[in-house]
Amino acid sequence: MSETNISRAQRIIARCREIAQCTEVSGETTRTFLAPAMHRVHELLGGWMKAAGMSVRVDAVGNLRGVLQGAEEKAPRLLTGSHLDTVANAGAFDGVLGVVMGVALVEELAAQNAATGGVMPYAIEVIGFSEEEGVRFAKPFLGSLALIGELRPEVLARTDANGTTVAQAIRDFGLEPEELSNAALDPAAFAYLEFHIEQGPVLESEGAALAVVDAIAGQTRMTFTFTGHANHAGTTPMGRLRQDALAAAAEWICEVERYAAATPGLVATVGKMEVPSGASNVVPGMAIATLDVRHAQDSVRHEANLHFMSAAEAACQKRGIELSTGGFDQSAVPMDRTVTALLGGSIAKSFCPPARTLTSGAGHDAMILARRVPSAMLFLRSPGGVSHHPDETVLVEDVEAALKVGVEFLARLRDDRAMLDQLVLNARTYAEAAHA
Ligand code: HGY
Ligand code: MN
Ligand code: MN
Repeated sequence: MSETNISRAQRIIARCREIAQCTEVSGETTRTFLAPAMHRVHELLGGWMKAAGMSVRVDAVGNLRGVLQGAEEKAPRLLTGSHLDTVANAGAFDGVLGVVMGVALVEELAAQNAATGGVMPYAIEVIGFSEEEGVRFAKPFLGSLALIGELRPEVLARTDANGTTVAQAIRDFGLEPEELSNAALDPAAFAYLEFHIEQGPVLESEGAALAVVDAIAGQTRMTFTFTGHANHAGTTPMGRLRQDALAAAAEWICEVERYAAATPGLVATVGKMEVPSGASNVVPGMAIATLDVRHAQDSVRHEANLHFMSAAEAACQKRGIELSTGGFDQSAVPMDRTVTALLGGSIAKSFCPPARTLTSGAGHDAMILARRVPSAMLFLRSPGGVSHHPDETVLVEDVEAALKVGVEFLARLRDDRAMLDQLVLNARTYAEAAHA
């Protein structure tokens, strides 16, 4: 019985849910950088990739790399994929859907070619990135940074909560950190296309299935350490004799929320707070908080960061608290117009309702790949607007629509040599501009 698009979409969802069972915490989906559970993910996906005629390898930073070769040896190469790691207690679709979708597209193209004798004038590489969330080592994008040659050697010395370094985690997984160069992007790469859930409420609020991403918001992720002085809760009078680190952090958190709520398009989150050696009868001597700031315009985000820094200093100054901070910044990244235009055309051709464009508040591997390769993203509706939560899900009809768009995109590049040559040329000028 020939497969229908719906049955293909149902299989994509089933595969995502099967991968969600691969976890380092039983009863929930938690899969951080190179956790042992990632071996089973590579086994599942690698098996599906091989069955689709792809060669499969795992590179030195743990990215799963499946390639469907083109007809010619040095054929241009289309990249697609997303990340395989998750946040703690995650859903089944953030990241994984993009990798499973990539395999499904290769399966579909291979079936079409087998039926029509079609040959592929380009290769397709499906990549399952090993680390995008930044949960284990508080440094996101390790997988995609290695692809573009920007994984700095000092990152290998970062330690996780158990004191294990990135380099040791790579060795523990059976890989060699000395071989990081084998993760490098294939020089024939001409475009990167990432399918991802929206992770927000916009598409659902508009009754829309899909959106084309125009840009990915910039993000700042920092750690604020408030250091006061632990003391007896019963004998230390209120006021200057107390150096309550948690009270300073609490005042600061309220200001973060107030300022972000008053600034259009800005989101700021204190997602994690630690009080080392905290106890109910001890004045908190230290409070360690994370800060996540996002906005489509870098200038607004930078201004917000300055405000949050001075608000923390003021809250500390009042209480005689020391402040130290650390973290990283990722600028907003526009998606490539040429690849995005072809994606929009594929949506129109697939008779889906014309998709709106949306700026992504969430970060994605596409924002790293876009430093080297023209990149585009297609969003699928997030029912309930929920993500980074076990209730995260997708609608089978939306997966079917995205699959249709993806097949149309790939078939157009297979059948329209002028279009393929245009994207290859676009990639060449893109790389020259990036290095200008
Ligand atoms: O947090 C994010 O932006 C993404 O889910 N990694
Ligand atoms: Mn995520
Ligand atoms: Mn993601």
